[in-house]
Amino acid sequence: LAASLGACASATSLPAPPGAEPPPSLKEAFGRLMPFGSAVTPEQLRGPEAAFIARHFNVLVAENVMKPEFLAPKQEGQYEFGPADELVNFALARGMKVRGHTLLWHRQMPAWFFKEGNAVVSRAMLIARVERYIADVVGHFKGRVYAWDVVNEAVTVDEPDAQADANGLRIAEFYKIIGPEYIDIAFRAAAKADPDALLFYNDYETQNPKKVALVSRLVSGLKARGVKIDGIGHQAHCSAGHPGVADFERAIDAYARLGVTQHVTELDIALNHNLMDTTVTAATPELLARQARRYGELVSLFLRKRAQVTALLVWGIGDSYTWLTSWPVKRFEAPLLFDTA
Ligand code: G3I
Repeated sequence: LAASLGACASATSLPAPPGAEPPPSLKEAFGRLMPFGSAVTPEQLRGPEAAFIARHFNVLVAENVMKPEFLAPKQEGQYEFGPADELVNFALARGMKVRGHTLLWHRQMPAWFFKEGNAVVSRAMLIARVERYIADVVGHFKGRVYAWDVVNEAVTVDEPDAQADANGLRIAEFYKIIGPEYIDIAFRAAAKADPDALLFYNDYETQNPKKVALVSRLVSGLKARGVKIDGIGHQAHCSAGHPGVADFERAIDAYARLGVTQHVTELDIALNHNLMDTTVTAATPELLARQARRYGELVSLFLRKRAQVTALLVWGIGDSYTWLTSWPVKRFEAPLLFDTA
């Protein structure tokens, strides 16, 4: 932690953190330069981590409980807003902002969404469902969620287990049943339900040059058709050596030319080299030092680009809460800023 903070701090014009104890509040150090947040779970807000979260972050996003399989697990029109409301209320009571994640994704959708009786839902019914779901959910959180990931991971490049059309759009259920227009439909429904919310397209590997071209095409198409889109979310799931800072910088500059803002939405930096790599079995001082330098380089880039990058969120409050130890393989990881909460 100290090394990570040191790297973050030395990469900015901030004074160095005042000694090791107590650790400085990241919200006071970094969060005054741009909104700084984390993915959280409602359980963390009820437990001993609550004070820690309030001390360090000024934006929260739900790691899971605002996804469709949690908000509408059983059937159309029947919502379970309790855990998400708890998270939103916790944040607003402490003067924090909330990002909404995510309205449409090819994962974590409840099974009913794509069914009509025992058959696959018709195009017309799926469009109506998307419009109703977004109207209800964005409407429910209207004025309380300041930015929504409206569509998540709709573009894919060079992934052997994913199919894409000529524009790089992922051929999964929404695409198969509705066609590429599902993205316009989702953004239009979100804008109608809360005209003041910032609407984002969110994805991983947003710095990959091929993906920059495809995401740019998607966003400029939306704009050309008069669909409101305000931002691009960089998930920024990074690893020991990837991505290069220069690629990230080129991507930020390219997206800036589209006239949208950008958020870093899910930052973490794995010690292993990629999602399948299991070679790291402990957080050695050398690995942590290298990781701290990576945090420093990336955060320093985001700060330099803060006319374009207008929020930074990490994907978990500490190493004991990271998806990277369980997906796609079980392994050791320590990708976040804090060892544990
Ligand atoms: O809800 C069930 C629960 O009923 C069951 O008891 C439990 C047993 O394992 O599983 C629970 O579901 C888990 C779910 O998280 C909620 O906790 C799933 O197994 C687990 O796979 C799922 O993982 C989440 C993953 O998205 C799913 O796609 C991770 O926590 C979450 O960090 C991750 O977040 C995504 C972002 O939304 C989008 N970008 C990538 C990022 C990392 O994959």
